[in-house]
Amino acid sequence: MNKYFPGISKIEFEGPNSKNPLSFKQYDENEVVLGKTMKEHLKFASSYWHTFCGTGADPFGPGTQPLPWLKESDPIKRADDTMEVAFEFFHKIGTPYYCSHDRDMAPAGRSIEESEDILWSFAEKAKKYQSQTGIKMLFGSANLFSNPAYMCGAATNPDFSVLCNAATQVKTMMDVVKFLDADNYVFWGGREGYDTLLNTDMKRELSHLGMFLKQAVAYAKKIGFEGNILIEPKPMEPTKHQYDFDSATVIGFLKEHGLEKDIKLNIEANHATLAGHTFAHELQVCTDAGMLGSIDINRGDAQNGWDTDQFPTNLYDTVEAMMVVLQNGGLGKGGLNFDSKTRRTSTDLSDIFYGYIGGMDAFARGLKIAAKILNNSPLPAMKEARYSSYDSGKGKEFEEGLLDLEALYKIGKDNGQPNAVSGRQELYENIINECIF
Ligand code: XUL
Ligand code: CO
Repeated sequence: MNKYFPGISKIEFEGPNSKNPLSFKQYDENEVVLGKTMKEHLKFASSYWHTFCGTGADPFGPGTQPLPWLKESDPIKRADDTMEVAFEFFHKIGTPYYCSHDRDMAPAGRSIEESEDILWSFAEKAKKYQSQTGIKMLFGSANLFSNPAYMCGAATNPDFSVLCNAATQVKTMMDVVKFLDADNYVFWGGREGYDTLLNTDMKRELSHLGMFLKQAVAYAKKIGFEGNILIEPKPMEPTKHQYDFDSATVIGFLKEHGLEKDIKLNIEANHATLAGHTFAHELQVCTDAGMLGSIDINRGDAQNGWDTDQFPTNLYDTVEAMMVVLQNGGLGKGGLNFDSKTRRTSTDLSDIFYGYIGGMDAFARGLKIAAKILNNSPLPAMKEARYSSYDSGKGKEFEEGLLDLEALYKIGKDNGQPNAVSGRQELYENIINECIF
């Protein structure tokens, strides 16, 4: 457990006055906030794909990050080395969970049978590492977007044989996720969408997606998988339009197909930005529907219309996100996954640690500030008071459905022109800052 980062030992909490860049300033996994440790509140996970498989390549040039575990030319040896570095990293950074697609931990073979055999051999290895280290899988997922066979979608592909190929991966990965005792199975529909409506029967594709998910849910029940099944919304990229556009769209879709009790959502901060929403908005929509499952905490860049997958460092975002998570009563089986990668220009191995340390500290601080705002500031009472006219009398009767439009008309007429009541946005914003200072 000290092969790939020999100069870096386990990252410890040293407090805000430490000058050691390889230490936590805010994240003390044992610190208790509102009755739970930070480790329990935050349930951090490392993503296998960005952390160990990404090399900084972009559409304009090759990778810049020489990762020593990707040196071997044999893909099986490379995957072996990658699993070794992965568990060394999880242990040293202290994320109690990790997330992986089938193809991150195990390369594809030349046939479906061979791919399944390879995946199972790596699942066995992962299980051993898990029991040695106590590190768990937060979510597993089938990669239904890299193989060129999926270029026109997987479950929404116009060709039935491609849909069935996707079924081979989803069934096998669900078996693996159960075997690895993961808390969640995620569907991210990277290519479930279209590039032009001219060649797309959207209605038919969406009904195929609904049927495919229904069958996947039935299979998960059949094998006794007790974790969450989640959909991760994203509006676009790689397709021009992705069907799982945002939380509201996915929730509507799940309700249309009667799946709202079986599937929850995995919200990614960066995808919220791409959909033109704030991160907190997406979380709130899920919370209000009782369907918040888990979170990918990587952020985007307000100036860019693509998925930059940066480490989360913006304190205002982490505060607002944690306010929603606390209001939701926590994340249950969900957690906070770093679906993040270091910048292409960050070429030292220590940069990966700096990325995680910064993100974990930003969320730890966000948690503490959110707890203060919700429990030790006037903000919640102010917000509640804005709606007090519905707490009793006619307002309450309206909420209970006891007043028809004519009754409302009469009250409106009797009352006359209402007085303006200030929304006090500036005061609310000041309270957030006072809790941050
Ligand atoms: C892509 C993305 C995925 C999902 C898992 O934007 O976020 O990595 O998190 O498939
Ligand atoms: Co993601």
